[in-house]
Amino acid sequence: MSIQLERRHYLQSYRSQPAVMAGGKGNYLRDEQGRQYLDFSAQFSACAVGHAHPEMIRALEDELRRGVGITSQFVTEVRAALAARLVSLMPAPLDACLFGVTGSDANEYALKVAKMVRGGGDIIGFYRAYHGATAGSAAATGKTETIQRHQGIRQLLPAGFAHASPPYCYRCDFGQTYPGCGLLCLEYLKTQILHRGPDNIAGIIVEPIIAGGGVIVPPPGYLTELVRFCQAHGIVVIFDEVVTGFGRTGRMFAFEHEGVVPDVVVLGKALTSGYIPGAAVVVRHEYKGIVDRFHLHGHTHSGYPLMCRAALATLDLLSRDRLVERGAAVGERLGAGLRELQKHHASVGDVRGLGLLWGLEIVRPGTKEPDLPGADRLGGLLLEEGLVVEVEAQPELESSVIVMHPPLTITDADADAALSMLDKALARFERSAAD
Ligand SMILES: Cc1ncc(COP(=O)(O)O)c(C=O)c1O
Repeated sequence: MSIQLERRHYLQSYRSQPAVMAGGKGNYLRDEQGRQYLDFSAQFSACAVGHAHPEMIRALEDELRRGVGITSQFVTEVRAALAARLVSLMPAPLDACLFGVTGSDANEYALKVAKMVRGGGDIIGFYRAYHGATAGSAAATGKTETIQRHQGIRQLLPAGFAHASPPYCYRCDFGQTYPGCGLLCLEYLKTQILHRGPDNIAGIIVEPIIAGGGVIVPPPGYLTELVRFCQAHGIVVIFDEVVTGFGRTGRMFAFEHEGVVPDVVVLGKALTSGYIPGAAVVVRHEYKGIVDRFHLHGHTHSGYPLMCRAALATLDLLSRDRLVERGAAVGERLGAGLRELQKHHASVGDVRGLGLLWGLEIVRPGTKEPDLPGADRLGGLLLEEGLVVEVEAQPELESSVIVMHPPLTITDADADAALSMLDKALARFERSAAD
């Protein structure tokens, strides 16, 4: 019934699965027939602490009772507390922040900050990366099957954005192999920046792991050199950690893996564990004086009390239950299990990931040819087995990836259960492909 109602009245801007979800508890979702699914999509990485967590509910109920209709016109205790708490997690000189409603909205602000700081200039993004659905964030996006490909809609995108090849070693745009490539993609990008004139570039926006674009993990040293080069030329380095932030990759923030410090960090999703939409932008100390002077950005619900409370409750749980460390440990087990599965399933071309963010590249067995309809079918089989994943496919751009990003609260047993469901679904998938 719900499916028919939706199909009739709801505009389908995202293809929905043929299941009606009624709720969730912990690491599981539940459909309207009461069937449980292990949630390896976790609200697209947002639901870090699991579903219907009693302490999240208590914190939000308390805040609702206090009254949440206070706008940015006033200081609130929760907003100030969250700002102080968030910057305390960051390395120097990142010590000022602004809150937003969505990741897209926060990226818009980050782009404005780069332009303010540099007095204008272009923005460089990466092909396959995703930064959001609003004009600026969509223009920075290089995952072009979304808005950019639609002739009419792309006219809504602002000018002044360029895109670079991502460090996608499995399908290198330059036909190279790491490490023999000497990071040719990065060397080429550096040359492009020099040709363009670094002074004409306001900022570069980077997903430290390109998540929705296929879980593309840059090879060691890539981010260190990218950040060093851009900062040496005064280009504002924005790390979009909307997916990777708050423990998703096994560290609190993905930039910690290489010890780099970007100029701007964009956060969203797990900031509030997805209980309330929320996002944040953290900037270098010296930017505050520049951007504070202007009313650059804001929405009715930017930094409103309910979102701040959800974020504080999330940070409490991450720290009290050591979820970042726990997620890292279970993530290693999951990654090892996925690599083992790859040995027995020729349709898994590549396994990539860090922490609890993993991607399986689905190919036609024995080749590197992407299997787009196959990845979709596999997603359906996984749902039948009881595992929710995200299927990401880019037609014409050779990528069909099953993305797995469960809550940070999953246990070893959950990881093993997911591996077993994946094994079964892959076997069914490969048998049906062979028939
Ligand atoms: C890396 C990244 N940045 C930004 C966004 C946009 O966030 P939102 O959907 O909250 O606007 C997303 C969304 O998936 C994302 O994956």
